[in-house]
Amino acid sequence: MSKKIIIIGGEGNGGVVASCIEDNLSRFNDLEWEVAGFLNDFEKGKTILGYPVLGGTDDIEKFLKEDFYIMYAIHMIGRNVKTEEVFLEMNIPLDRLATIIHKTAFVARSAVLGPGVFIMSNCYVGPGVKMGYCSLMMANSLLGHNTTVGPLCHFSVGSITSSYIEIGKASDVALGAKVLEKRKIGNYAVAGANSLITHDIPDYEIHIGSPAVFLKKIRFD
Ligand SMILES: CC(C)(COP(=O)(O)OP(=O)(O)OC[C@H]1O[C@@H](n2cnc3c(N)ncnc32)[C@H](O)[C@@H]1OP(=O)(O)O)[C@@H](O)C(=O)NCCC(=O)NCCS
Repeated sequence: MSKKIIIIGGEGNGGVVASCIEDNLSRFNDLEWEVAGFLNDFEKGKTILGYPVLGGTDDIEKFLKEDFYIMYAIHMIGRNVKTEEVFLEMNIPLDRLATIIHKTAFVARSAVLGPGVFIMSNCYVGPGVKMGYCSLMMANSLLGHNTTVGPLCHFSVGSITSSYIEIGKASDVALGAKVLEKRKIGNYAVAGANSLITHDIPDYEIHIGSPAVFLKKIRFD
C-alpha cells in the first residue's frame, strides 16, 4: 500500500513534488507515495493541482499523530532564514519526512541523502555527495562528486554545482547558476540566477553575475 504524504507548500515547489509522484506512478508504476493533500497558510480550504489544502502549518501536529509522511517544499529564495524558521516551528520528527526521487534522476550509490530530500527529473547526484535534510533539487540540476550540502538548501532548474563544494544550510544555487569546484557557499546564502561562482559566498550574501560579485544581503523578515 502507498504511503500517504502531505506536502507543505504551494503550487510552485509543492506542485513539482506532486507532479513527480504522479509521474513516478503513471510512467514507472511506482506506488511508494500517494499525495493526501497540502498544508498552506494562504490557501486553506482550496485545492492545489486538484489536491485539497487540509490546513495550515499550525495544523501539522494533528497530521503527525496520524500515519502521514511530510515533504517540506517551502523555500523562499532571498528569505533563507525564514525558510528555516518556518520548518523549525513545526517540529517535524526527521523520521516522518519523505524522501522522493524521480525515476529519471541519477543518484550515485555512495551518495548519502538526508530525510526529506527531493530530487526531480534528470538530476545528477555524483558519488560521495552528502545532502542534508529537506534539501530540494529541481529538474536538470547537478551536484558533482564529493560535494556536501547542508539541510534546507535549494537547487533551481538547470543549476550546476561542481565537485568538492561545501554548502551550508538553507542556501540556494538559483536558475542556471554554476559553481566552480572546491568553493564554499555559506549558510543562508544565494548564488543568483545564471551566475558563475568563482569564489566563496559568505553567510547571508547574494552574489550574481559572471564572475559573480556581491549584490546584497538576504532579507531577514
Ligand atoms: C538572487 C535574486 C533573487 C536577486 O533578484 P532580485 O532580488 O530581484 O534583485 P534586485 O531587485 O536586488 O536587483 C538589483 C539589480 O540586479 C539585477 N539582477 C537581479 N538578479 C540578477 C541576476 N541573477 N543576474 C544579473 N542581474 C541581476 C536586477 O535586474 C537589478 O538591476 P537594475 O538595478 O539595473 O535594475 C535573483 O537573481 C534570483 O536568482 N532569483 C531566483 C530565480 C530562481 O532560481 N527561481 C526558482 C526557479 S526553480
